[in-house]
Parts: sequence; C-alpha cells; structure tokens
Amino acid sequence: MFKNALKYYKFGKYHAEKMKFEYGKIIGSMNLTKNDELSVVDIGSGSGRLLHEVLIPLLPKNIKEIVATDIDEKMIDFSRSVNEHPKVIFNVLDIGGEKIPLHFQNRFDLLFSSYCFQYVRDLGRAFSNCEKLLKPNGELALIFQCKTNALYSTYKKMSRIDEWKLYMKEYANFVPCFSDPDPDSELRNITENAGLTLINYNFDPEFYITIPRKQLLGIYQSLDNIKLAAVPKDQQEDYNRDFVRSIAEEIDLRFSNGRIIDEPINFQVPTVIIHAKKNK
Ligand SMILES: C[S@@+](CC[C@H](N)C(=O)[O-])C[C@H]1O[C@@H](n2cnc3c(N)ncnc32)[C@H](O)[C@@H]1O
Repeated sequence: MFKNALKYYKFGKYHAEKMKFEYGKIIGSMNLTKNDELSVVDIGSGSGRLLHEVLIPLLPKNIKEIVATDIDEKMIDFSRSVNEHPKVIFNVLDIGGEKIPLHFQNRFDLLFSSYCFQYVRDLGRAFSNCEKLLKPNGELALIFQCKTNALYSTYKKMSRIDEWKLYMKEYANFVPCFSDPDPDSELRNITENAGLTLINYNFDPEFYITIPRKQLLGIYQSLDNIKLAAVPKDQQEDYNRDFVRSIAEEIDLRFSNGRIIDEPINFQVPTVIIHAKKNK
C-alpha cells in the first residue's frame, strides 16, 4: 500500500547535507522569539524522514506544533505510521491548490519546504498560499530545484506517446521554473505579488548529488503519481517500460543487455534557496 512512500523513505535522503546547510544558515539568521511558542509548517514533507532527521534538530526548543503536509495522501499515511514525535501532526495539503483551509490560515510563525516547489504548477499561487499560512511577520525558507525537472520533462515526452497522452496532456508544454533569462526578476515579482518580502535568496546552478543510477530512478518512480492515480493496472507494465525509456536521457541511465548499469552519477540539481517573510 505504501510502496512508493517506502521507496522514497529509503532513497530520498540524497539532499540531506544541502538541506542541513541551507536551513541551518537561514534559521541562524531568523528573528526568533524565545518567549512565545512557535507554530511550524513543512510543505511537501514526503515520507517525513528529512523533516525528522534534518529540520527538527535545527529548530529552537520553543516549538508548539509542527504540521507536516503533503499533497499525496499515501505519503501522509506512511509518515504517520513511521514517525512518532509528540509535536508533529500530519495533514494532506496541496500548496498549489485553490483554497487553504481556514484553520491553517494565519497560523504559522515559520514555514519550510525542501524540494517540493518544483512540482507545483502555479508558483505564484503557491507563494500566495504560503503567505496565507503565515502569521504577519512569519518567515519562510524554501529550497527547491529550478531550471530542470526530470519528472515533468519525462511526462512532456510521454505526452507524445499515444497510449499515455491522455494522462500527460497538462505537461505537453511544460517549462521548468526559473528557466527565463532573468530569474531574479521573476522571483522578485512572484514574492512581491504574494505579499512577501525577500530577505535573501541564492540560485545555486552547480549543486549536484552523487547517487547510484538505479536509486535515482527509484526516487523518480516513487514520485510518479500519474502511474498510481491514473494508469489502469493491466497497462502499468507497459507504462513502466515507457517511463524508464523516457526518463533515461534526463537522468543519464545506461543499459547493458537491457539492464541498467548501476554506477553512481553526479546528477545536477540546480537549486534555488529563498528566505522571505510575510508583510505586516
Ligand atoms: C522530492 S519530495 C521532497 C520530500 C521532502 N521535503 C524531502 O526533502 O525529502 C517532494 C514532495 O512534494 C510533494 N508535493 C508535490 N506537489 C505538491 C503540492 N502541490 N503540494 C504539497 N506537496 C506536494 C510530493 O508528494 C512529494 O512528497
């Protein structure tokens, strides 16, 4: 039942050091009260593994609650089953969705998100939703991939295959976020329009992870919700075959006698790191 979430739990720790470094730097520069208890939200927490192993140890002690959220109900159910922390509660939430539930609005002092926003189709709306979640002067730290996105570029390729184009049509014209020649202006506009003030940001185009190729494929397969949500069971083997073929170029898979050669790859993950706050 939790196959995908378990796969992500096992393999999805490739960016732990990057998260620790970037979150550590941002948290160190945050204007944190020692008197009141803080409410924290994590967006796209996946299996919850790095929330527990990386983010929580960096947070100050005066935490009232940590709400871990994800669009994928199965990830949330899995997280509940493996992570036990007295202050963490899990909830399904689509950060790119039309509505933020009222009980979450104006609730959080701090918002974190790692490697989720590259999967949100409307970044402007996602930033506005972050603004809604935060209290006035609340701060957010976002880390996500920009300029490339192997999963959605694979969907774009698959939208040209007759059997799958029905499922992939919203990806036919997909362009990764911040691909424009002037990503700085794009970021400034999105934050400003959402009612947020940029405190600091950095585009890190050189960031890469060293990872065995099969593991990298496993991560993308665990994040592929189209297969689970839409493709009928009797077509899933054919889908898998075409998914692997289509993603092969994106993640430089190499084959010998039809099998993936499992050498490690230095896989580039251009990343943007954003520290901002909600206006008063
Ligand atoms: C690459 S994983 C990152 C998980 C975790 N934050 C980490 O750093 O390991 C991306 C997660 O974002 C979730 N996600 C994708 N789109 C989302 C959305 N619109 N709202 C909330 N979560 C989303 C996915 O379900 C997945 O669990």
